[in-house]
Amino acid sequence: MSEAHQTLREVLLDPEKNPGLDRDLIFLLEDIATACRIISHLVRNGPFAGNLGEAGSVNVQGESQKELDVIANDVFVKHCSNCSAVAALVSEEVDEVYWLKDDPDSGDYLVYFDPLDGSSNLELNMSVGSIFSITRLNGPIDAGDDRSVLRPGAEQVCAGNSVYGPSTSLVLTAGHGVDGFTHQRGTGEFRLTSPSMKIPVETAEFAINASRYKLWDAPIRRYFDECLQGVDGPRGKSFNTRWIASMVAEVHRILTRGGVFMYPGDAGNRADGGKLRLMYEANPMALVVEQAGGRASTGTERILEIQPTSHHQRVPVILGSKSEVEILGRYHCEAD
Ligand code: AHG
Ligand code: MN
Ligand code: MN
Repeated sequence: MSEAHQTLREVLLDPEKNPGLDRDLIFLLEDIATACRIISHLVRNGPFAGNLGEAGSVNVQGESQKELDVIANDVFVKHCSNCSAVAALVSEEVDEVYWLKDDPDSGDYLVYFDPLDGSSNLELNMSVGSIFSITRLNGPIDAGDDRSVLRPGAEQVCAGNSVYGPSTSLVLTAGHGVDGFTHQRGTGEFRLTSPSMKIPVETAEFAINASRYKLWDAPIRRYFDECLQGVDGPRGKSFNTRWIASMVAEVHRILTRGGVFMYPGDAGNRADGGKLRLMYEANPMALVVEQAGGRASTGTERILEIQPTSHHQRVPVILGSKSEVEILGRYHCEAD
């Protein structure tokens, strides 16, 4: 079989592609892939199960939960708990850290996830996805001490996401590039369909929720205004815009054809630190993007270097094609 159709397990066991992955991590990644397969099935059959709507509850972020947010969280928790080397879970949908072991060992894993990203799109039949991030304990910790999960994104050993679109995809990095898999209906396998994904350095496409224009800081307005001026403006080229309101789907587009995605800090979200969550949204997407040759920044610092202070912390996010993220970084410096 050609390399383009290797199964997820074959890729995880391939020492050239993924040197040094231990068995526990491979089992964990396979369990996460299973969780994504189940969630994909639920998303596709949602209307018949009557579970696309509001759950009537709010999560720790104060956001209303969909029934499927809650169900997808349960699926992730169940499958990540299969692996005896997982010490704790951090979910967007659960306030507290979920400790699985009373006595975590060095080498055990911590798993962070957003079980359903972009869930406001669910009843619209538009793409949603799941995001996950894994770090490894490199020494003894106290179980139950939630500060133990506060690790910078640079410590991630693995990260990725699924997208439940016209097909179900799974994107994965273990620190040696990014591979894209597609769920093959019939066999139920995730197969390698986009090996070594690379984000084009140059782009003329950007994604931002422009309804927040009046709330933005000067560097973001400057970038946006200049892009809109097209060939006659300082950028000298025409730009295209996109906004799906589902970061996983935006990142998937950027991995495929380049672009930049922004959810900056602004006057409306600054008190909260930003909109997107550091540990299970920004960090895993930043690792995927950097491993594909892109950049991920808050505008003033590299996302992967942020030392978290709380496990539901929010951050400004600017990520995608290297050239555009660097220009946005320069605009932030010049504004200072
Ligand atoms: P979630 O569905 O996990 O709460 O995350 C939604 C996030 C992100 O995916 C998306 O880019 C952004 O929120 C959408 O924000 P707007 O509502 O401002 O469009
Ligand atoms: Mn999300
Ligand atoms: Mn979510």
